[in-house]
Amino acid sequence: MIDAVIEGDCLDVLLTLPASSVQCCITSPPYWGLKDYGVAPRRWGDGWEGVLGHEPTLDLFVAHLVEIFGAVARVLRPDGLLWLNLGDSFVHGAVTGLSRNWLSSKAVDNKQIAPLAARAKWSGLAKGNLMGMPWRVAFAMQRAGWILRSDVIWAKTNCYPEGRHVRRPAKSHEHLFMFAHPKSKGRYFYQTETDDESRIRDVQSVGSGGGYKGHPAVMPEALIDPFVRNSSRMWDLILDPFAGTGTTGVVAHRNHRRFVGIELSSANVEVANQRLYDAYPLWSLILKARTVRRAPPPPPPPRLVAK
Ligand SMILES: C[S@@+](CC[C@H](N)C(=O)[O-])C[C@H]1O[C@@H](n2cnc3c(N)ncnc32)[C@H](O)[C@@H]1O
Repeated sequence: MIDAVIEGDCLDVLLTLPASSVQCCITSPPYWGLKDYGVAPRRWGDGWEGVLGHEPTLDLFVAHLVEIFGAVARVLRPDGLLWLNLGDSFVHGAVTGLSRNWLSSKAVDNKQIAPLAARAKWSGLAKGNLMGMPWRVAFAMQRAGWILRSDVIWAKTNCYPEGRHVRRPAKSHEHLFMFAHPKSKGRYFYQTETDDESRIRDVQSVGSGGGYKGHPAVMPEALIDPFVRNSSRMWDLILDPFAGTGTTGVVAHRNHRRFVGIELSSANVEVANQRLYDAYPLWSLILKARTVRRAPPPPPPPRLVAK
């Protein structure tokens, strides 16, 4: 099923997608030790059982992300690109500008946050440390064979209030790493502008995505739009294994690309599929018509045998 968000654990659903079918993957995984999306636990390759983002150690979380992107590598074409959005977090503290005050103001249940924040103490770092999570993941991905081609800084034009008690500069950026496929041999599809003036820069100033219908961490469309366009052609398939509210799909459809999303929470799946339809109803109809035209012919009717 494409041009929709499929409900399930991305590791399981990725196994059902055809190999080398995706031109570009753009995604934003859950943070480690912050949010509880209320998703079901699973058993990982290393034997640990639990939910991504709730691992007892930082290293285990990084290893699980690498395991997931190993499954993405199978479905991604060797000339395809992976764009990975990651924000950093502090040991025991605010995460990428999300202070406890902000979370409480959004009526996030404090009972939910406390145990998650407590897990951060297992990072092996003293309290107050910035974890360097995005770079830990990037280094682990490099060790797994991915080629890191760019670190795009998402400079948030409207960062979350952290409060005056925070004695450091306000946190206002995230990373969008560009990876070429481990089998790319230096060849991948990326349309670069011919003149230096109009080339897309590796610092993008974009307002934070905020929330959407109860989902707390939505990627802004403007952040990923140029990269969807530059990393794929019309009708190419774009993947988001952590689809959330379907932002990648909306941007893919706007640019006349096909889309497949995976999302564990059934509430988010419903929101995302409705959002995809609402954003581009005409595109949804065109896709439906193409799919119907390409559908295999129905089986012949059963032959009547004379008695
Ligand atoms: C940071 S949010 C993605 C937000 C999305 N980019 C958007 O704009 O709405 C991460 C999402 O991953 C989902 N998720 C967490 N673990 C998952 C898994 N193992 N498989 C699929 N989805 C998962 C969560 O439910 C959450 O919606």
